[in-house]
Amino acid sequence: MGRLTDTAAWQALAGHAREISPRHLRELFAADPQRFEHLSLTHDRLLLDFSKQRIDRTTLALLRDLAQSCNWQDWVHRMRDGEPINHTEGRAVGHCRLRAGAAAPAEVRSVLQRMEDFCEQIHNGNWRGFSGERITDVVNLGIGGSDLGPRMAAQALAAHRLPDLRVHFVANLDSADLASELVRLNPRTTLFVVASKTFTTLETLTNARTARDWLLHAAGDDSAVARHFVAASTNLEATAAFGIAPENVFPFADWVGGRFSLWSSIGLPIALAVGFRNFSQLLAGAHDVDEHFFSAPAEQNLPLTLALLGLWNSNFLAAHSQGIFPYSHSLRLLPKHLQQLEMESNGKRVDRDGQFVDYTTNPVLWGEPGTNGQHSFFQLLHQGSALVACDFIALGRSDFPLPGHHSNLLANCLAQSSALAFGQTADEARAAGIDEALVPYRTFPGNQPSTTIVLPELSPFTLGQLIALYEHKVFCLGVLWRLNSFDQWGVELGKQLASRLAPCLRGEHPDDTLDASTRGLISHLRQFRS
Ligand code: F6P
Repeated sequence: MGRLTDTAAWQALAGHAREISPRHLRELFAADPQRFEHLSLTHDRLLLDFSKQRIDRTTLALLRDLAQSCNWQDWVHRMRDGEPINHTEGRAVGHCRLRAGAAAPAEVRSVLQRMEDFCEQIHNGNWRGFSGERITDVVNLGIGGSDLGPRMAAQALAAHRLPDLRVHFVANLDSADLASELVRLNPRTTLFVVASKTFTTLETLTNARTARDWLLHAAGDDSAVARHFVAASTNLEATAAFGIAPENVFPFADWVGGRFSLWSSIGLPIALAVGFRNFSQLLAGAHDVDEHFFSAPAEQNLPLTLALLGLWNSNFLAAHSQGIFPYSHSLRLLPKHLQQLEMESNGKRVDRDGQFVDYTTNPVLWGEPGTNGQHSFFQLLHQGSALVACDFIALGRSDFPLPGHHSNLLANCLAQSSALAFGQTADEARAAGIDEALVPYRTFPGNQPSTTIVLPELSPFTLGQLIALYEHKVFCLGVLWRLNSFDQWGVELGKQLASRLAPCLRGEHPDDTLDASTRGLISHLRQFRS
């Protein structure tokens, strides 16, 4: 296969970018009074407004030509049909099957049924701890995809939380994370969910062992583990070796990627927090977007459009940074979840044929909820020198309505995307009465591209839609950039090095082959340990 950058579709985009990139969004808006109608899409009750992207209708047509030349629909079908498209791990990519309702595989439906029964027992108090008391607190022990997705979704659905059960999340290897939770908890009424696809992850197993010791210290008898530990994992041997009873393990298949796993039993803490019925609605929302993604033509396909805009900003406008700004306090963890989803999936530079790519791949993704970010880093977006592609996420209705908040919140969301797009010229600053000496400081260049996604409200269903929208965006970007979005070899080297350095830090194993900096740091740190 020739190079992506040599294809006619890429070259056409490069030529077009030379023409359009000097044009300001002000000019693009002036040229097309119907720009919002032409450059926005809806699906169900979701709206995607990309009229504030630095594109015109020709850009979109050329981007769709590129998608066509990359056979994006074939890849969608290959994923949907369970082909092993994660070729470096020899696995299919099956997270859509987890949320396919009655069409889901029998083993998926059976685990969902067990999750529902389990939630029922916890919620109605039939499940008792070693002392006979009901469970009041659940602690999810997991990291990466076994933490970020469930933590984000449980937080996002705070308005739907069930009373009488608190759900906590512990991820960090730093004992400060677990210790600060345990100090508030009662071992007699606490249930741990050990969430790990591989059940080999150092952070999770270390936290799980410490939690088990804490429990056994109070219970004084190993049999308490069966009443206080359950697991979500693919590794049934390891869960058994840890001492978790087989009936307390909720399995899933290896074709579920960690960062796509909140739809599997890794979602158990979500179901515990908001009830199984709401968890089912989350799955239903994602399934609705799957159906849209699988069937909508390129011109109407929301996830493909998001991906094409991402590619345009990265590769043709050189925006190496992507900000995610949910104007929703409940969605405050979404940027963190998307960070793993996008950067672990497409933060790569070797293509599916094992060749180094000669184009930029995933931007650095980050974000904060609005309006908080406005009072910290938005200064850089408005007047700094970096081009940052922004996604704004707005809710039609507040999930915690109090008078006087939501319209102001929405006004700020719209004001920011507008100010970023159109800025303020020197003449406008003068016309507003700004002192001449301050005019340079009071001008705003604008032309910062953004997309606004509007959800009618934040419900389990619309949250499922939103997450699936980004998942399929990531899939499409992988197809366009010719990457395998479903492996993560880049995380391995650091893990191997850490296992080599831990004995050195404990003083068990000096290693003279280490680099001078690492040796120096180890010897400096060891003085504090002794
Ligand atoms: O180290 C990266 C990673 O493998 C992620 O891909 C994954 O989500 C996370 O670690 C946790 O892995 P596990 O669920 O196997 O504990």
